[in-house]
Amino acid sequence: MPSVSAVLLPDHLAENELTDRVAIVIDVLRATTTVTHALDEGAACVIPVASVDAARMIAHERGGSLLCGERGGIRPDGFHLGNSPAEYRRGVVGGKDLVLTTTNGTRALGLCERAFSIFVGALTNLEAVVAAVRSTERDVVLVCSGTDGRVSLEDVICAGLFASRLKPSHDLDDIAMGVMFAGEGAIDRCGGLEGAISSSFHAGRLVDMGFGADVEYASRLGVSDGVPCFDAVTGEIRPAGQLNRAGG
Ligand code: MLT
Repeated sequence: MPSVSAVLLPDHLAENELTDRVAIVIDVLRATTTVTHALDEGAACVIPVASVDAARMIAHERGGSLLCGERGGIRPDGFHLGNSPAEYRRGVVGGKDLVLTTTNGTRALGLCERAFSIFVGALTNLEAVVAAVRSTERDVVLVCSGTDGRVSLEDVICAGLFASRLKPSHDLDDIAMGVMFAGEGAIDRCGGLEGAISSSFHAGRLVDMGFGADVEYASRLGVSDGVPCFDAVTGEIRPAGQLNRAGG
């Protein structure tokens, strides 16, 4: 049986931890939710970039692309789009390459470049990603992006749900079991998934900034069939079926 492990922050990944393994990168609020939604709405691809300067340069080189993302939750000057899923409508992103930089999520994707396949996971596409990952029959590492170097409850809850869904077909190690119990406990104590996500620090910050609708959308389970995969060779995230290396 393949295994499932987890890291609470991408910086906790050991040197060879991802070799021959599948990574599921999770940033519920909001990067991986936004990437999933953008591809659902017909974006051609998403190019995750660590820094604002690099994003500006790549967008300049890729004519016709849109410059997207946030710093401190806010769209940087000159960017076309911020990091709210609702901004990524078909009429805006359809057929476009999106150059995306976010504080934690796009950085986490970059840190997983050594994995065999890199799936973009969120609550919204949880069931679809579980099915795709299961079909690879490979060991899995759940990679929580966190917030500014701190563990994020919403990512731990999502990782816990991934672990729980993969349990019938995979062996969970102690950390995977731990996130599963933590996620189940949070959902139980908060009266449901949305309450649990809302109780996180970053959700509170987003609500205070006027992004409550993003938190609500990101808490919806399985509303997308999208399985975005990051190909670290091309630097692009595309739906799994469009990549050779994705295995999905
Ligand atoms: C991130 O990558 O840090 C997040 O997506 C931040 C945000 O909520 O925009």
